Amino acid sequence: MASVKNVRGFVGAPEGVDPEKIPKIALSSGARLPCIGLGTFGNDRYKGEQIAEAVKDAISLGYRHIDCASVYGNEDCIGKSLNDLMARGFKREELWITSKLWNDKHAEKDVIPSCEKSLKDLQLNYLDLYLIHWPFSNFHAKGVDVSSRDPNAKPYIHENYMKTWRQLEKLVKMGLVKHIGTSNMTIPKLKLLLRDAEIKPVSNEFESHPHFQQPELFRFLVDNKIIPIAFSPIGSPCRPERDRTPEDTVDIEDPVIAAIAKRLNVHPAVVCVKWAIQRGQVPIPLSVNRSKYLANLQAAVSAPLTKEETKAIAGIDKNCRLVKGQVFLWKAGQSWEDLWDLEGAIVV
Ligand SMILES: NC(=O)c1ccc[n+]([C@@H]2O[C@H](COP(=O)([O-])OP(=O)(O)OC[C@H]3O[C@@H](n4cnc5c(N)ncnc54)[C@H](OP(=O)(O)O)[C@@H]3O)[C@@H](O)[C@H]2O)c1
Repeated sequence: MASVKNVRGFVGAPEGVDPEKIPKIALSSGARLPCIGLGTFGNDRYKGEQIAEAVKDAISLGYRHIDCASVYGNEDCIGKSLNDLMARGFKREELWITSKLWNDKHAEKDVIPSCEKSLKDLQLNYLDLYLIHWPFSNFHAKGVDVSSRDPNAKPYIHENYMKTWRQLEKLVKMGLVKHIGTSNMTIPKLKLLLRDAEIKPVSNEFESHPHFQQPELFRFLVDNKIIPIAFSPIGSPCRPERDRTPEDTVDIEDPVIAAIAKRLNVHPAVVCVKWAIQRGQVPIPLSVNRSKYLANLQAAVSAPLTKEETKAIAGIDKNCRLVKGQVFLWKAGQSWEDLWDLEGAIVV
């Protein structure tokens, strides 16, 4: 395996992947987004320091794209890792760092300070991508049960969303953010945003894995030149009990995925990552385990899945959404499906 080089002298771990070989998606701004990133949501399982250590090591192994968010509560730890790398000769411009605006910071007055806080914690002077984490303005305490409700919760109000978006546009004009985007959006909501945005979203982060492929949303994003970033690309097998329902299926136990993993002699998780990249979406799998995040990175440069294999995976979609978002519901008697505009119109 080639050692991990950086043109300006930073030398990474020899067992890593040459970051130059990781495919990139070219943006009209001239920026290039690496086709795989490292997730940093530790859930209840990993402390900020563990995630930050994984970030540092993953970058030394060739990762150049890190998916962060203020709500993950670890940006200050990750900032120390980034600072450490820069002190060792790593250049900021070689990284793609994403962060996200949390739901209780949608008010116009809160957006810029919230982004500035992420920048301060991450020890950066700009972000490559800043996303509105959810389209719903809402407050709920960290780690609450899915039955928890915010008494002030409201449906999606486009006028309010645009007020928040205008602040993101301002962040671009201020030079604090290079690109802006969305997360957990639906097609009807995105249509309104595309109609009204002065600066269009470059990306939408959405749940996507073999058992939840969201083909219509995926097609819409591609058709509108919005880069699909796939969260929970392995089907989030270690998510907390409170986020599971009896109907949930397990991607890495699917016989189609398992058979391909056997042929390639890899963990089924790696097959999910390969499938995502080949489909043209950008997976951001999490692990703090070196052999796992290295295997995921290697998936970006190893031989592709065969046509038959990708076709077989296309056939195992079970429309199984795992991140249902129940805590955003705004009135009694609703079900989580109301958050996802399944009939093609925004539910209010
Ligand atoms: N925008 C949003 O609303 C949103 C929502 C959810 C997630 N996200 C982002 O997406 C990232 C990933 O999502 P996720 O953490 O829910 O799920 P995921 O990446 O689908 O699954 C992560 C789990 O898969 C295991 N894993 C990873 N690579 C593996 C490998 N090569 N072999 C075996 N097991 C492997 C890890 O196990 P170990 O822990 O045992 O290593 C980890 O617990 C998050 O960290 C976050 O950055 C965004």
